[in-house]
Amino acid sequence: MSDLDTLVRDAKALFESCQTPAELENAKAQFLGKAGHITVLMKGLGALSIEEKKAQGALINKSKVAIEEALNAKRQALADAELNVQLKAEAIDVSLPARAQASGGLHPVSLTLERIEAIFGSMGFDVAQGPEIETDWFNFTALNTPPDHPARSMHDTFYVEGDYVLRTHTSPMQIRYAVEHVRKHKAALDANEAIPEIRVIAPGRTYRVDSDATHSPMFHQCEGLWIGEAVSFKDLKVVFTDFCYSFFETRDLELRFRPSFFPFTEPSAEIDIKFSSGPLSGRWLEVAGSGQVHPKVVSNMGLDPEKYIGFAFGMGPDRLTMLRYGVNDLRLFFDGDLRFLSQFK
Ligand code: DAH
Repeated sequence: MSDLDTLVRDAKALFESCQTPAELENAKAQFLGKAGHITVLMKGLGALSIEEKKAQGALINKSKVAIEEALNAKRQALADAELNVQLKAEAIDVSLPARAQASGGLHPVSLTLERIEAIFGSMGFDVAQGPEIETDWFNFTALNTPPDHPARSMHDTFYVEGDYVLRTHTSPMQIRYAVEHVRKHKAALDANEAIPEIRVIAPGRTYRVDSDATHSPMFHQCEGLWIGEAVSFKDLKVVFTDFCYSFFETRDLELRFRPSFFPFTEPSAEIDIKFSSGPLSGRWLEVAGSGQVHPKVVSNMGLDPEKYIGFAFGMGPDRLTMLRYGVNDLRLFFDGDLRFLSQFK
C-alpha cells in the first residue's frame, strides 16, 4: 500500500473516531490544514521534474479528494446525529389525551329571555329593544306618573345628570313602540282606517337602588303590550296562562290575578303562580304586574282611548329563571362564578 493510501486510510479512521463537529474540524487540520500532510506533500512537488510533478501531483490530488469526501461524509453524519437528538427531545406524544376545549354556554337569564322571545314570537308578538338611559317622560310621565306622583317613590330610581334616569322598568317601551307604530300608520289613522294591532314584548335590563337575596340593582324585565280595537282582560289571561304552560313545560300550575295598583293600568293586577307539584308546590309566587292600559297612556301613545284598548304586563325574567331552575339567590346570576353558570350549558 502506498504512503498516500495509508494517509487516506488514517484520515478516514481519524474522522470516523470523531464524536463532535469541533473534534472533526481539528482532525481535518492534520490533513488539509496549512501544515497538514496533504499541504506538505503538495509543497514538496516543487523539487520534482515536470513529468514527475504531473504524475505525483495527480496522485496527491486524488488522495486529497478522497480525504475531503470522507470529511464531508462525517460532517453530514454528525449533523444528522445532532438533528436526531433534537427531534427526539422535541418529540410530541401523540398518545397523550387531548386538552379539552371548554365549550361556552348562554347565561341562564339569556336562556330564559330566548324562551320568552320564542314563546311570545309564536303568538305573533314582535320583540323590541330600547335605551337603558331613559328620559323622565318615557319612564314616568308618559306612563301616567307625573312628578310628585306617590307611585314614583315605589321605584328607587338611579338619576342620571339632566332629565335622565336609568330606566326603572321596561314599561317606557310601551310608549316608544306604540309611538313608532302610530307614526308608521299615520296616514291610515288620519283617514280613519283600521291599522294593525300593536303586539310586542320588550325584554331588557332595568335598574333600581336595591340589593339583597331577591333584589339586584340591575335586573331584567320583559314588558308585554297588546293594543287593538277589542283586546280585553280575557286575552291577557289566555296569553299569560299559555305563556306559563309553555315556559314551565307543564300544565300543573295555577294563575291568580290579584287586584293591585299601577298608574299606567286600570284595572291592575299582580299575577301570581302556584305549582301543584315539585319543590315550590302550594305557594303563590308573584311573577308579573299587569292590567288594562290606562286611557291616559293610550292617549300618550297617540291613539284615541275611545277606540283603542288593550293590556300590558311586566314580568321578571330573573324570577322566572329562579323558578324554572330552582335557584334561591338572585345574586348568583350576576356574580359571574363559572361553577354556577356552567351548570346551565
Ligand atoms: N312596570 C311595573 C313595575 O316595574 C310592572 C308592570 C305592571 C308593567 C303593570 C306593566 C303593567 O306593563 O301593566 O313594577
